Amino acid sequence: MSRFEKPIWEMKKRKRKRMLELKDVDGFYGSSQALFGVSLQLERGEAVGLLGRNGMGKTSTVRAIMNLLRVASGSLAFLGRSIRGLPPFRIAQLGIGLVPEGRQIFPNLTVLENLTATARARTKTSGLKPWALDDIFQIFPILRHRSHHMGNQLSGGEQQMLAIGRALMTNPDLLILDEATEGLAPLVRTEIWRCLGHLREHGHSILIIDKNVRALNQVADRHYILEKGRVVWTGSSKELAADSRLSLHHLGI
Ligand SMILES: Nc1ncnc2c1ncn2[C@@H]1O[C@H](COP(=O)(O)OP(=O)(O)OP(=O)(O)O)[C@@H](O)[C@H]1O
Ligand SMILES: [Mg+2]
Repeated sequence: MSRFEKPIWEMKKRKRKRMLELKDVDGFYGSSQALFGVSLQLERGEAVGLLGRNGMGKTSTVRAIMNLLRVASGSLAFLGRSIRGLPPFRIAQLGIGLVPEGRQIFPNLTVLENLTATARARTKTSGLKPWALDDIFQIFPILRHRSHHMGNQLSGGEQQMLAIGRALMTNPDLLILDEATEGLAPLVRTEIWRCLGHLREHGHSILIIDKNVRALNQVADRHYILEKGRVVWTGSSKELAADSRLSLHHLGI
């Protein structure tokens, strides 16, 4: 074997690298602690739900992953490498696509510009087909018709589809959605869930925060429930669906 060839077992090991792993993460806003020892994992090709009532730490967990929240202790790894302390743009470049709470599309760019401004070439790790504009227009046909409209001329639902399309155009290895269906009309929600189901079936790794547990349960394999900044439960969609007390106690539904 030449010195540049890696032994097969090592290549296999690399393939099996966990997509995302948080271990004992403590997160702070100034001196106020929002996350207490949060640990979670997401394997390649998994869709995982992050649940909890308002103010329990879901967005803070996402902010910790993107280094938008001060992490005082614990570890965060993406595809086997530590991302703790890296600048947020670098974390995005490594392959995490975020659809943030409140959309945050570029209001003064057109739909087309929004989709291409942060587009990123395919990574070697994902093994998935790279996204092209046409693919985005196929899942959300309305964006094709609006392609020359400014971001701020779109309806809330269209903006949300654009936010998802923009994240996909970065060809993320991991897609994170924070309340992507919040405040949208039922038809648009259905459209977005259909899209997420499609992504899941095609092997994408997704971390989804959403208040609609029933819809989330159909797409996600497993869930974590947060309460006051702590993971209080983790289990499969089947287990969650079977335990109505769990939903009532931790999610208020
Ligand atoms: N910018 C901030 N500065 C200080 N505290 C914050 C800030 N953002 C959130 N918090 C606090 O951190 C805790 C967790 O908030 P977080 O936004 O993570 O909750 P969440 O689960 O996403 O809630 P929601 O379902 O309402 O989006 C809350 O107590 C909240 O008040
Ligand atoms: Mg939130």
